Amino acid sequence: IKNIGVYTSGGDSPGMNAAIRAVVRTALYHDIQVTGIRRGYEGMINGEYEPMNRKSVSNIIQRGGTILKSARSDEFRTPEGRKLAYFQLKKNKVDALVAIGGEGTFTGAKLLGEEYDIPIIGLPGTIDNDLVGTDFTIGYDTAINTVINAVDKIRDTAESHDRLFIVEVMGRDSGLIALRSGIASGAEAVLIPESTGDLNALFHRLEHGRKDKSSRIVIVAEGDQEGGAFEVGRLVKEKFPNYDTRVSILGHIQRGGRPTCMDRVLASRVGYAAVEALKDGHRAEMIGVIHGEISYTPFEQAIKKNLQLNSNMLKIVEILSL
Ligand code: F6P
Repeated sequence: IKNIGVYTSGGDSPGMNAAIRAVVRTALYHDIQVTGIRRGYEGMINGEYEPMNRKSVSNIIQRGGTILKSARSDEFRTPEGRKLAYFQLKKNKVDALVAIGGEGTFTGAKLLGEEYDIPIIGLPGTIDNDLVGTDFTIGYDTAINTVINAVDKIRDTAESHDRLFIVEVMGRDSGLIALRSGIASGAEAVLIPESTGDLNALFHRLEHGRKDKSSRIVIVAEGDQEGGAFEVGRLVKEKFPNYDTRVSILGHIQRGGRPTCMDRVLASRVGYAAVEALKDGHRAEMIGVIHGEISYTPFEQAIKKNLQLNSNMLKIVEILSL
């Protein structure tokens, strides 16, 4: 391998820069060139390539977002788009790729790797933590810390005004942000896409549970089965007009900010491992960390939506807020 192309694609996540830095510095250590591909698959198709050196990744380990920029590309979903991308990769003498992103990113990488002879290694970059083959994804830890900092502040108002707050967190298809931040912020209940009956359980709590609480926090994942916090808020207000209820949507603040130590270290470890893996002949695999050890998962497995939620976590939310 002579020239590794690195790109970020899909939603940005804190720690992506640390991953880019690790890939660049490890490759240069092995005298392998690195080409930065801007704007994910869009830039891969449109020829947005730039050579990277040690300096290009200076002073970025602490920055959120991605210096390579990111995009979601419709064109790359077509065989013609991928053909154009491969043509550009050849033209720019890129002979291996490191893809940083989530499910959509790896779906694209899998197809490109099947259709053309190019080794690709993926790094899990998404705040959602919804990939198989790693305990945590890059950005998840930062995002849940952003959430609990925000909820702690909301709690002050909830407590001062004896209110019930319905707080919406990100997670279109996954309740992992909601679940963990719900436990950490002492939430009354957590509503997530993966489980049914959450709303009825909440109603039951509000009707039969302790009445002496001065504040209540309910965390709702944006993809929950009721259709988000506004809808949950509407239903709660309808059924419990005596509660002083407010809705708060945290939104994209969850995607930004300085990555936590955990995300920086995770990104550095997998970024380093990606280059080593390419050198060792790996291809079409995502690198993650499971029980503290580097692991390799074929793209096909990584993007499978069969993540097992730990059902104990929901129970913990319930019991600890009784
Ligand atoms: O995949 C990460 C994520 O933050 C999801 O949780 C969320 O639903 C989605 O991205 C939002 O994407 P966009 O910024 O494109 O609206």
